[in-house]
Amino acid sequence: MTTTTRVADPQSYPLPPWVQMPWLERLRAAKAYHTGGERIRDAAGPVALVKLGPRGLTPVGAVVTSPQGARDVLAGTDASIDKEMILHVQARVHGDNVFNMAHERWLPRRRALQPLFTKKHVATFAGHMALAAQEVVAKWPLKRQVDLNEECRTLTLRVIGRSVFGIELGDRAQQLGPHIERVLRYPTGRATTPVRAPAALPTPARWRYRRSLTVIQAVVEEALAAFRADPSRDAPLVRRLVETTDPATGQPLTDEAIRDELIIFLLAGHDTTATTLTYALWALGHHREIQERVAAEVAELGKRTLTVDDVPHLTHTVQVIHEALRLCPPAAAVGRLAMTDIVVDGFRIPAGTNLIVGVYALHRDPALWEDPERFDPDRFSPQRSKGRNRWQYLPFGGGPRSCIGDHFAMLEATLGLATLVRAVEITSIDDEFPLALPFTMTADGPIPAKVHNRS
Ligand code: HEM
Repeated sequence: MTTTTRVADPQSYPLPPWVQMPWLERLRAAKAYHTGGERIRDAAGPVALVKLGPRGLTPVGAVVTSPQGARDVLAGTDASIDKEMILHVQARVHGDNVFNMAHERWLPRRRALQPLFTKKHVATFAGHMALAAQEVVAKWPLKRQVDLNEECRTLTLRVIGRSVFGIELGDRAQQLGPHIERVLRYPTGRATTPVRAPAALPTPARWRYRRSLTVIQAVVEEALAAFRADPSRDAPLVRRLVETTDPATGQPLTDEAIRDELIIFLLAGHDTTATTLTYALWALGHHREIQERVAAEVAELGKRTLTVDDVPHLTHTVQVIHEALRLCPPAAAVGRLAMTDIVVDGFRIPAGTNLIVGVYALHRDPALWEDPERFDPDRFSPQRSKGRNRWQYLPFGGGPRSCIGDHFAMLEATLGLATLVRAVEITSIDDEFPLALPFTMTADGPIPAKVHNRS
């Protein structure tokens, strides 16, 4: 069980330093919040206060980039640090869900959904995961060159659709992609701008957002309608939500509440894992010797469809995924709001401050990692991991609000990567992996690679 270092008297601690960058640079750091965390740490230290706009209109942010600071922000089990920061408030535009609910409403929802995502239970989805990867890669040798980003999105949409929604989504990746991106980008844009138009004002951006949201809502409504028409359908997340009651009323959740919850699982449940797989494949496409170690490891298991029992034999594959998540953490930063005065890594943070834990900055801090820019999966070997601070590596966050889908994502990425690399040799074409930040961090456009059948 995680414990926090809440102190009795925050007033006796000093305030963190203010970031002394010109306003435009501060704004750029907020928009490019992955590398922005590094810039702020280098300019002002591991806990730093930053202001983007006039007091009253724009809340003050504290950027936290030390393991102790991350622990102080994330490990708490009460509502004194909550998901009430500007991003969560803006993200409620597409409804309430387990990701953006504040503590009191969140707890029963998380308890209701958790049993579906335990390590033991996600093992029941392994068949969907391995099969989806086989289907995707079966078409690759015919193409010779593929866009890893698009292929991995197809794969992960197919997996989430079949595993928890009970519908087929993989063939809709291209059609849904721009809508998903727009739905994710809209609240992020509003959260990172110094001045916002009132939420109800019908701006062109809001109109485009609503149009895309309608497309996404229709997808999850289709899953709910299919389940209602045939309740024996294999759609575990839909079933669980239909069977859940609202603790406030004791009544079943409304269809609208179910729809809003399903949306976050559609968004968070495929985009992040697709980015991880894309980055891992791109990195292997530049490191032939590491790719061959993965290929050799999986070849030992024969040509049959991989299962959850194979995972203990895929240690190198898992290390590659850990390293991909270190260098390219899809949740490049995570946020909270200080609801009371608190202490973070020795500094007093006043109530009302937005807290931003710079995951990307922690993962690339030269004071914490040897040669941090290097792709080196062996750093996650048991010997080299010994003694590492748990709070310097946070791809799935930390504390009670860490990712509910961590076991799901790790199993999917492991079986997916092993299945793909067993079938084809991958050569990456571009030297750079461009990044976009619609909400999570994703590949910014196609990631082309040459593929050759191994057999
Ligand atoms: C590589 C893949 C993934 C990464 C890196 C990732 C990362 C994260 C992180 C860092 C958080 C915590 C955010 C915070 O503290 O504010 C989170 C929360 C969450 N993730 Fe994931 N995630 C991944 C895959 C998934 C999958 C596959 C699902 C669903 C099937 C999922 C569903 C969620 C949900 C619902 C939350 C909110 C949990 C809560 O607040 O109780 N994620 N994720």
